[in-house]
Amino acid sequence: MADKKAQLIIEGAAPVELPILTGTVGPDVIDVRSLTSTGRFTFDPGFMSTASCESKITYIDGDQGILLHRGYPIEQLAEQSDYLETCYLLLNGELPNAEEKAKFVSTIKNHTMVHEQLKTFFNGFRRDAHPMAIMCGVVGALSAFYHDSLDINNPHHREVSAMRLISKMPTIAAMTYKYSMGQPMMYPRNDLDYAENFLHMMFNTPCEIKPISPVLAKAMDKIFILHADHEQNASTSTVRLAGSSGANPFACIAAGIAALWGPAHGGANEAVLNMLDEIGSVENIDKFIAKAKDKNDPFKLMGFGHRVYKNRDPRATVMKQTCDEVLSELGIHNDPQLQLAMRLEEIALTDPYFKERNLYPNVDFYSGIILKAIGIPTSMFTVIFALARTVGWISHWKEMLSGPYKIGRPRQLYTGYPKRDLNK
Ligand code: CMC
Repeated sequence: MADKKAQLIIEGAAPVELPILTGTVGPDVIDVRSLTSTGRFTFDPGFMSTASCESKITYIDGDQGILLHRGYPIEQLAEQSDYLETCYLLLNGELPNAEEKAKFVSTIKNHTMVHEQLKTFFNGFRRDAHPMAIMCGVVGALSAFYHDSLDINNPHHREVSAMRLISKMPTIAAMTYKYSMGQPMMYPRNDLDYAENFLHMMFNTPCEIKPISPVLAKAMDKIFILHADHEQNASTSTVRLAGSSGANPFACIAAGIAALWGPAHGGANEAVLNMLDEIGSVENIDKFIAKAKDKNDPFKLMGFGHRVYKNRDPRATVMKQTCDEVLSELGIHNDPQLQLAMRLEEIALTDPYFKERNLYPNVDFYSGIILKAIGIPTSMFTVIFALARTVGWISHWKEMLSGPYKIGRPRQLYTGYPKRDLNK
């Protein structure tokens, strides 16, 4: 894996030889671990040039617009697989056979309820609390309920925690919504599949149980697949960093939820809809495009650009297709917000500012429009991202713990005062 070498020439010091590591696909990586022995560190704020770990789970080629989970293209998984099968793949490295899948689905269904006392946590929140604030608190609180699976050095405990998290996230997410609505929380129904059950807990009430539309359930399932994992993004890296200190899995996932909340990451799907509302109509687009280009204006075109993709986000392509399917199922034609979004996309794709900077629509650009059409309120969008991404977070956490790892401890370039004296 390391037969090539790089040489680092430091003025006034002996050259340092650094191994070059080669992955199965993707760019080579210069291994700088031995640099500490020279008393120097690398400086890379925002991890623009730094691989923080080795991983076998997800591969992204940002220039080509390729996303592979365990080698399988996201487009194939979205079309031919389902969310729980994708979860199995991410967690275990291979797709399940029929027997393995049945066992996995049954285990997930076995854990869908939450401890009855967990409900009391919700009462401490204001009804108008942001659902992501509730998610951070309630998911973190799971560690106070499931003491029997907190030994991170025990592979069986890690497995049980993984299953609990994947099973309970839809239940907690839907409880968050019901709490904000002042409606009774719905128990999960294990006769339904994962996405159907989520929609049931979101939209049904004890006095009215309506059947779930298969088209909408399929669209929801696809949204879950498209958000399942995305290698070492901010929230996944947060989960790994928290996990590297030995923190329990529920606490680590709560940390991931917090990192996801920001509008530059998972909060972008909510921000897209808020932005479309703010733009209001096609006539105002030019004004907002000008704002997005103005260096003195913090406004950014939400749903555009990506740290890794410098080409189309492959998830956005599938999402756009799903968006068309959902709107047609719901009989929504000429939706003004969708028209606004399409015009915005058209302008951004031809405008030199966006072209030069490779700013293409990302996954969040269309997901908000679909979620809104399904009837999900804007404030719940990032919660749904968190629900779907839990499997990615937990797969990375498990991968890290099952191999040798060290506590994550970045260094810094100190630019503050040197030592000074209080008495002078
Ligand atoms: N609107 C206007 N200008 C932009 C945008 C945008 N959405 N995104 C990047 N730029 C400009 C940026 O100002 C910079 O210009 P210049 O070179 O003149 O200084 C250039 O493009 C490079 O951008 P950057 O900020 O250095 O890129 P980054 O890799 O640090 O940031 C990003 C990536 C996703 C945070 C950023 O593109 C952004 O804030 N986009 C909007 C938020 C968004 O949609 N986020 C969801 C990402 S996909 C879901 C997920 O994975 O979480």
